[in-house]
Amino acid sequence: MQRLNVALVGQGFMGRAHSNAWGQVGKFFDVPVRPMMHTVFGQEAENPRAFADNWGWRNASTDWQSVVNSPEIDLVDLATPNFMHMRPALEAMAAGKACSCEKPLAGTLDDARAMAKAARSTGVKTFVWFNYRRCPAVALARRLVREGKLGQIRHVRARYLQDWADESVPLAWRFQKEWAGSGAHGDLNAHLVDLTRFVTGEEITEVAGAIAEIFIKRRKLMTGVVAGGITAGLQSAEEEGDVTVDDTVLFLARFSGGGVANFEAARQATGNQNANRFELNGTKGSLRFNFERMNELELYDATAPRAVQGWTTIMCTHAPDHPYVGNWWPDAHPIGYEHTFVNEAYDICRVLAGEEPVVPIPDFEDAYQTQRVLEAAMISATEKRPVKLEEVK
Ligand SMILES: NC(=O)c1ccc[n+]([C@@H]2O[C@H](COP(=O)([O-])OP(=O)(O)OC[C@H]3O[C@@H](n4cnc5c(N)ncnc54)[C@H](O)[C@@H]3O)[C@@H](O)[C@H]2O)c1
Repeated sequence: MQRLNVALVGQGFMGRAHSNAWGQVGKFFDVPVRPMMHTVFGQEAENPRAFADNWGWRNASTDWQSVVNSPEIDLVDLATPNFMHMRPALEAMAAGKACSCEKPLAGTLDDARAMAKAARSTGVKTFVWFNYRRCPAVALARRLVREGKLGQIRHVRARYLQDWADESVPLAWRFQKEWAGSGAHGDLNAHLVDLTRFVTGEEITEVAGAIAEIFIKRRKLMTGVVAGGITAGLQSAEEEGDVTVDDTVLFLARFSGGGVANFEAARQATGNQNANRFELNGTKGSLRFNFERMNELELYDATAPRAVQGWTTIMCTHAPDHPYVGNWWPDAHPIGYEHTFVNEAYDICRVLAGEEPVVPIPDFEDAYQTQRVLEAAMISATEKRPVKLEEVK
């Protein structure tokens, strides 16, 4: 079988999720190309050799440029902070390598545009880890919409609420514009915009208004390196620095099918730990999803007799009706967060072997469209006006 030499750039939270995915995929899926965990890049202080030994990477490096340009590498997988997506991606694509990149595609729209352009001109295959598409319940939602179960979609309600970012959390890269581009917006609204575009099959045509707010404007400086979680193990110094990205962004939007939408991303929504939710209301029915109950999809069929209309909770663990689950455990045994990454690794292997993915994967072009929506919302928040997507190039 053809081998696929993978290089992973970054060994933090996503570095661990991707390492697990590349290590598991060939065990649970009948992969058409066999991913080899060739090299991992990490910063010196993170001890990439120890990371490599723990997760099964053959080589470890502290020099990302030699890694992404190595003639031995077929796929460069990027799991670094947002500002550090573009440079390695451009080098990898110029060297003719396929490239998979964490979301959001980049820290800025300019970077994202350059990445989409390079993908077009080099013709290499690109992928973005909008992993929530690969929850079986989300894939089912998309299928039900395509089958017309909802009729015309009139309302899209999307919220991604977390509560980890209180005053005790130091000034990690996630709070700094030059590293992250934006805060909760690029982190969480990026997922919502991708999810709702994916499930509805429609595009956002206008952002009608937006609010961006920073509640905690200064934080203690961070010392040391990340420890593989969002906040776990972060160390603080006594000195403080400015927070330069949003804690929350809310915006209103219009979809191409005529529906209206609201989006909300927050890091201090106390009591909401990882509430990645959307609800769609159509002329024939409604759907709702909540990642905290990721194996379930709720459906309301408004065409059923009125006497029995009500929300149905579908447990999406039945193969083959629900994608991917047949490769995991027997029916009715739920899967978790990490499975969405393994499912995506499988689809990347399929696309690289010339096959259709089980569920469409966003490429750089697709993720650039999501980034345009994020940019439109930020312009709307800053300039306090509606922004048509056609003005955001
Ligand atoms: N798909 C998801 O669900 C999801 C979840 C979390 C994060 N992400 C995305 O993944 C990416 C990485 O996030 P994370 O949580 O893994 O971050 P992290 O801070 O845990 O890890 C970042 C890694 O990049 C390396 N790095 C940082 N600065 C660097 C520099 N200047 N030069 C070289 N390497 C550097 C770090 O050493 C570390 O190995 C971000 O784009 C983020 O938005 C996606």
